[in-house]
Amino acid sequence: MHDQPRMKTYAMSDFYADLRSARPPVDGTVARGQLHEDTYFYTGKIGANPGDYMPFPVTEDVVARGRERFNIYCAPCHSRVGDGNGMIVKRGYKQPPTYHQDRLRKAPLGYFFDVMTNGFGAMPDYAAQIPPRDRWCIVAYIRALQLSQNATQAEVGGQQVPSAPAQFEEPGSGATLPTLLPESTGEEKK
Ligand code: HEC
Repeated sequence: MHDQPRMKTYAMSDFYADLRSARPPVDGTVARGQLHEDTYFYTGKIGANPGDYMPFPVTEDVVARGRERFNIYCAPCHSRVGDGNGMIVKRGYKQPPTYHQDRLRKAPLGYFFDVMTNGFGAMPDYAAQIPPRDRWCIVAYIRALQLSQNATQAEVGGQQVPSAPAQFEEPGSGATLPTLLPESTGEEKK
């Protein structure tokens, strides 16, 4: 077969004025799969302001995924309920504000997306660790957390608010999660 003429990688060439054989991509080139046409999905913003809707429907799976990702990436600082008392904070990191204050309860959904995407003050961004769709799942879960911490008795079907503290079996060695005592029915047989 014919030996095709070609340049070795990064070899010099006097064909172009800059003497480079490897050509830089044309201005405005978009790599395959990198066309972020849906600006809201990737920024949480409409123009310069955060928007207040989810870019896809929130199903139970979405909230479950958000909860899982939140507990991995956010809870170490923000705590599992989002009050800002995470373990990292106990070890001296700046304490974040609680999500259960008025300002953040009223903050639009896109705002939370933006904080994760670009960071906020002392908080680093999580754009590299958490893909956009998962960031939205976390947004949905944060809103659920906020509702859960401000529910009225009517909203939870007459259940006591705040709910009674959980009762645990004797804590084990610490190597396993403590088990909840079975709920008392009021008519204990023993
Ligand atoms: C390493 C600790 C840490 C982690 C992990 C972390 N945060 Fe934060 N977060 C902070 C701190 C500290 C602040 C307050 C920053 C400041 O005021 O300078 C903050 C602030 C915030 C705020 C409030 C911004 C405001 O307007 O006051 C939101 C919302 C937030 N974080 C969301 C998240 C989410 C969502 C995650 C998980 C993807 C996350 N954070 C992970 C430390 C953390």
